[in-house]
Amino acid sequence: MHILHVVGARPNFMKAAPVLRALAARGAHQTLVHTGQHYDRNMSDVFFTQLQIPEPDFNLGVGSGSHARQTADIMTAFEPVVLETKPDVVLVYGDVNSTVAAALVCSKLLVRIGHVEAGLRSFDLTMPEEINRMVTDRLANLLFTPSEDGDANLRKEGVSSQKIHCVGNVMIDSLIRLLPAARGCPANGFPERLALVTLHRPSNVDDAENLQNILDSLGRVSERIDIVFPVHPRTRQRIAEFRIRLPRLHLVDPMPYIEFLALQTRAAVVITDSGGIQEETTYLGVPCLTMRENTERPVTVTLGTNTLVGEDRELLVRELNRVLAGKGKKGAIPPLWDGHAAERIADVLGSL
Ligand code: UD1
Repeated sequence: MHILHVVGARPNFMKAAPVLRALAARGAHQTLVHTGQHYDRNMSDVFFTQLQIPEPDFNLGVGSGSHARQTADIMTAFEPVVLETKPDVVLVYGDVNSTVAAALVCSKLLVRIGHVEAGLRSFDLTMPEEINRMVTDRLANLLFTPSEDGDANLRKEGVSSQKIHCVGNVMIDSLIRLLPAARGCPANGFPERLALVTLHRPSNVDDAENLQNILDSLGRVSERIDIVFPVHPRTRQRIAEFRIRLPRLHLVDPMPYIEFLALQTRAAVVITDSGGIQEETTYLGVPCLTMRENTERPVTVTLGTNTLVGEDRELLVRELNRVLAGKGKKGAIPPLWDGHAAERIADVLGSL
């Protein structure tokens, strides 16, 4: 069986790496396509190196653009690759524009689609990723979910149970594999006690006043604890464009996977609007304050260490004070987040 994988943006790389490895161990014929949605060395190449992902067979080099432009460019460049390589199954990951673009192409070419990280729903249609998730799941033939809530969402949408496979969390497969390397990472001059921040959602960073308010709140937080903030390119652009007044924070470039994981393990608290980081902190048992009104990963709130603080800056500071007083959520690790999700995906593909 010939499996073609599509990756494109930072969060895809740690999801695809274990699946590529599990299928390689079974001798599968595989093709890797990088759409080029993320292209900076520190947003892409360094992840390939650290996660030991093979060199892509095709790099579509699409780069940035509006959603329509980026999605269309990926579709146009990807279609001839599918026609040329004739895969039996195309695996797409997560919820980025590369995911939905590849799914649309395959559905029209009648190529089977497997969606890794299926079934997640924030029920917030102002979020571009939610649209990507819904469309991809509607078109996919194999839906690999990370947790039971994903199965329930899909069943409610009328997806046949036969298509749904609850395999667990592939992102946690990568985390477990590289945790020893992260634990061995030097402190690199970062403070002993720190809060780790990441922000890149359009809802938080694309409005000048909102972004200024968030950074001012972080300024208040930094009176209590040092803040390390690896800045996503989108956020970096907005800070420059809006001429934002920056409080005293340690702003650094986006970090490689292992170094970032090392900081997560050492952080007293993580403040984020990322999806994946809500999951990683839950696995690590590190309290996470999520600056979003909702999450497509509710298990991180019900079982894990995640607390949604939304846009309420007072709530952020209050929750932070609780965490720093040692009263943060302790949490538990969700079922099947055990380092073997990719093997379960390979089992399903092997049984087709
Ligand atoms: C994308 C995903 C988001 C994911 C995030 C992780 C979609 C809709 N969004 O958002 O789900 O959480 O990646 O990073 O697919 N840029 C660079 N260098 C790069 C990549 C991007 O400078 O290597 C800049 C681009 O100029 C662009 C901006 O960052 O203006 C946004 O990039 P884009 O891929 O459009 O979306 P993200 O915000 O990264």
